Amino acid sequence: MRRAVPAGLHFFARGVLIAALIVVQAAARTSGELESGRTFDERQSQGPGDVREGYESADYRTRSRSLLERRGVPMDLIRLAETPPLGLPPVPVPADNPLTRTKIALGRKLFFDRRLSINDTLSCAACHIPEQGFTNNELRTPVGVEGRAVLRNSPTLYNIAYQEHLFLDGRELSLENQVWQPLTAHNEMAAPSIGYVIRKIRRMRDYDALFEEAFDGRGPDILTIGQALASYQRMLLAADSPFDQWYFGGDPDAVGDRVKRGFALFSGKARCIVCHRVEADHALFVDHRFHNTGLGYAASVSGKAPETTRIQLAPGVFTEISRAAVDAVTRQRLPNDLGLYRVTESPGDRWKFRTQTLRNIALTAPYMHDGSIDTLREVIDFYDRGGVPNELLSPLIRPLDLTAQEKHDLEALLHALTGSNVPDLVADAFAAPIGDLSAEDPNWAHENTLGY
Ligand code: HEC
Ligand code: HEC
Repeated sequence: MRRAVPAGLHFFARGVLIAALIVVQAAARTSGELESGRTFDERQSQGPGDVREGYESADYRTRSRSLLERRGVPMDLIRLAETPPLGLPPVPVPADNPLTRTKIALGRKLFFDRRLSINDTLSCAACHIPEQGFTNNELRTPVGVEGRAVLRNSPTLYNIAYQEHLFLDGRELSLENQVWQPLTAHNEMAAPSIGYVIRKIRRMRDYDALFEEAFDGRGPDILTIGQALASYQRMLLAADSPFDQWYFGGDPDAVGDRVKRGFALFSGKARCIVCHRVEADHALFVDHRFHNTGLGYAASVSGKAPETTRIQLAPGVFTEISRAAVDAVTRQRLPNDLGLYRVTESPGDRWKFRTQTLRNIALTAPYMHDGSIDTLREVIDFYDRGGVPNELLSPLIRPLDLTAQEKHDLEALLHALTGSNVPDLVADAFAAPIGDLSAEDPNWAHENTLGY
């Protein structure tokens, strides 16, 4: 896939990028002919970037189209659990954490609250970005606080309620417990301990009433924080895709012939369905198992760990930076990723990863546990080649001999799996506050008032 780029070329590429950036910015600046003092018309907004003229003044208003179009519309999320969108089974909810509106609302606030990280910069949504399929389209592997490198690609949180094992190696089993990993991981939100997070949230006065109401007078603690965050994430149910409307809803016109042929291949010649399962009355496109497709093997053995990583400089402007350069800044070398072996320590489990859902897959590039495949077409090519041969390769992964037309049809099917209610969930996410500091917050004015 990616080849090493000679240093000279790298320099050249960087130069081109900087030039491109200047052009992009210049275009953004001149397009509106905004002069200080003149109020502008929202209809003149240009592209995703912002023009910062007058940024320092109190009445500054953004001209960024993506920000102007970012309208929050809260929805009654619990209804999704009561009647899941077409194609999904009933939502599993643990008996000791029943869903309530107050708990979901509290969990949503916590999910988007940047104050939950050690330096108040990063919320869960920094890596699970709502408008990017609750994953991160811009980076193969996301970055945590202070730019620290993370081993794996951000998985989507859509339909996470149904996963029996969490993380690509399955090391966690409940959403309630899972939250403590990103909160305390040094390279993610970096709280030094669970107790630290609890103390910090207890000092944020805006949470007092919310916890009391959601948990019958009980405040933030190891149980309630996990239960609230889990309840919100359980509501990210995205289905009723064109595929669902056709396959489960019986509407023959919901998809075209390409998608129908694509599904015949998916469940026939290409055998995707063996692992990405479809049941009689619903489909999660997972089998709750772990498989070796050879990607992890390829990265571990032959020094073929991706040598470069993709970074977005400005909206739509990407560059490849060498992994070594990133490691030098972050002062970390990430370990080889052995997948399920990390959990079982059984040699046969090396390079096995959990089957990922294919729902909303068109929204969640880049793909695979390391984000090493950029497009769905390349994923199909990867399977067509039979993955990467190795002694532990799953016997279910074999060369497929697909024609160009067949690949095309399979790709059309994958594009038909995007839930029709995705825009509602994104708009709901945009309605959540993002945790700007107030004078009551522990880190207000950079004073450490947590009592150390
Ligand atoms: C720095 C980026 C980052 C932040 C911040 C972050 N995550 Fe994640 N998240 C990831 C990555 C990467 C993975 C996959 C890790 C793995 O498989 O080992 C992941 C996995 C998950 C999973 C499991 C998904 C699956 O398919 O099994 C859940 C659930 C989750 N995160 C929720 C959260 C919550 C809740 C927060 C905030 C408390 C959060 N994340 C903060 C990057 C992040
Ligand atoms: C042997 C079981 C198996 C078969 C057969 C299989 N997959 Fe997968 N699929 C997986 C596993 C396991 C992953 C996760 C791999 C990883 O993260 O490295 C995955 C990941 C994917 C992803 C990326 C998901 C993401 O969010 O990054 C896509 C797309 C995909 N498969 C499509 C297909 C298609 C199309 C076929 C048929 C041509 C297919 N798969 C056949 C097990 C399988």
